[in-house]
Formats: sequence, C-alpha cells, structure tokens
Amino acid sequence: MDIVITRAERSKLQDINLENLPFGKYFTDHMLEADYENGEWKNIEIKPYQPLLLSPSLAALHYGQAIFEGIKAYKNTNGEAFIFRPHDNFRRFNASAERMQMPQVSEDLFMEGLKQLISLDRNWIPEKPDHSLYIRPFMFSSDEIIGVKPSESYKFIILLSPTGPYYNAPMRIYVEEQYVRAVPGGVGYVKAAGNYGSAMYATAQARKKGYDQVLWTDALEHKYVQEIGTMNVIFIIGDKAITPGLEAGTILGGVTRDSALTLLKEAGLTVEERDLSINEIIDAYKAGSLYEVFGTGTAATITYIKELRYKDFVMNFEPEGWKTAPAIKARLTDIREGKSTDPYGWMVKVN
Ligand code: COI
Repeated sequence: MDIVITRAERSKLQDINLENLPFGKYFTDHMLEADYENGEWKNIEIKPYQPLLLSPSLAALHYGQAIFEGIKAYKNTNGEAFIFRPHDNFRRFNASAERMQMPQVSEDLFMEGLKQLISLDRNWIPEKPDHSLYIRPFMFSSDEIIGVKPSESYKFIILLSPTGPYYNAPMRIYVEEQYVRAVPGGVGYVKAAGNYGSAMYATAQARKKGYDQVLWTDALEHKYVQEIGTMNVIFIIGDKAITPGLEAGTILGGVTRDSALTLLKEAGLTVEERDLSINEIIDAYKAGSLYEVFGTGTAATITYIKELRYKDFVMNFEPEGWKTAPAIKARLTDIREGKSTDPYGWMVKVN
C-alpha cells in the first residue's frame, strides 16, 4: 500500500496533558485522507491534521451519505501499541458503506492506513487507566452536486483522538416510547452518521427530565428494548446475561457488545441474544432477579446504569455492590492493556 507521508513540522503533543482528557476534543498531529474517484481509491496520504476545504454543494452535507467507526488503541505494559479488534470494525464499516450505497474500502487501505497513522502518532496513546487513543475512520460523499443520487466521489479519513472516559459516572436512563431510533428494514444496524443526529431530539427531551440518555424501544409496539444512547445494553437477570438480538436489523452489532458477551460466557453466565420486553425487565426487577444493567460501546467501554425509568415506574440499582459488570470490565481492560493473555486474538500490534 503506497501511502504518501508528510510529517507535521512541530508536534502539538507538548501542549496537552494526556491525563483527564475529555472525549473527542483533541486530535493528534496527523490524519489519513484518501479520495474515491473513477471507481478507485487514490491520493492516499498521511499528513498534518488540518481543516478540509469543502464546496457548499457537497452531497454529504445535503443527503447524509456519511458513515463512521470507533476503534481504540492502547499501550501494553512494555509500551507497545495495539489496536483492539480493528478487523471487526473494518467489516462493519463496509457493511455500513453497502447499506448507504457507498464504495467499499479495501482491507489494505483501512488496516495499513490505521497502522501507519498510529505508528506515526504512537506517543499520543495515553497510559492512564480508562484512557486510550480513540480512532475515528469515516467516509462521506463528496460530489459537488445537489441532485439526489449516490455520489460518484467520496472521501475516506482517519482521525486519532487521545481520550478519557466517555461517560464518567453511572447513568440514569429514560425508557423512550414516543420517538424511535430504528425500524426493521432501516439503517439501525449500521453506523450511519444520521442515526446519531436523529437521536439527539429524544435525548434532549430525556435530559430535560433529568435523565442522561434514552433506552430505545422497538418502533412498532414500544415493547421491546433496543439500545441506550451510543451503547448496546446488557441485563443480568438471574444467572443469565440477556441482550437484544441482531436479527431484526435494529441494533448496532457492537464490537464491545460481542467482547462483553464472550467474557460473560467465559465467566460462566448463560448468554441470551433475543427479544427482551420492558415487562420482562420490570417483572425481574420486582422479583429481585434483575441484578445489573450496563451499556457497552467503543467510546463508553462498559458503563453502569443506576436508574431506569419506564413511565412512572423507577428501577434503581447500586453498581457499587455489583460483581459481574465490574469483573467483565476489569478482564477487558487487562486484555487491552496486555496485563493478561489475549485468548481471543483481539489485540493487533502496531509495528
Ligand atoms: C463509539 O462508541 O465509538 C461511538 O461511535 C459512539 C459515539 C462516540 C458516537
């Protein structure tokens, strides 16, 4: 893979403190940029992080052909850089591209691009607990025409952002029954930019009521739970870990979701991926068998839920006394930071 590299003249690293970083606010010295034109990816470049010059008629700004991924890189105890499950994100990126009628990105461009960019900016990987280098690959249509049709040209970019925790504390969640995130046949299973923009209104309404995020329910009956904010959701009920299944195409197949389910099985729990109704959740809560609720996501990692409100019924939890989610979180962190072996081959080394 031929990537032209232009180095930044001066590193910005000395200007920031890699501790207590907010999510997604700082970016490293370099970015990768490539153009899709005449059916192929070209002009593949790593260059100093810089603004883009875009035409106001840029198709993505009007019709939203835009997708992205979130991946994280860590340093192990020897200071070597590793990326967490990037091939899974690569596959999901291309699934998103297919659904949004955008071109596929080759594995070479995605993986080599990632590795060479991180290699150059490896000093930006924070080493503080709960910190990492967040990787944001994204693609958008770049035709300069406002006719409604799939673009013929696209931009693929990778940014790197040293970051701290996305959510700092256990969350209060409002079960949403009016607005919807995803419908069967829609785009809920892919990482289309519009999924996030269209969630903001309902989230703002929940915030006014004092909640951090919404738990989406299905669009047809508002009976089955889907996702929380930017996260998948897992319920520990009795000796089972239950999470909504992916078949209906309304849930994002999270890489952290998959990792957490693997580790829950490893810890001896029975994992069920299936429809889960709010009534079943309430019944379990009343019976005292709903022990833990947590969200999973690349940015969020594993985030505990301390309150779930459905209509006027409030379910409270005390994460301080939990066993399962903290154990899974610790195991995941140990694998990511190279403090324990990596039995699933999740960590990909950056040379
Ligand atoms: C992620 O977890 O990587 C996300 O994409 C969530 C959010 C920051 C958009």
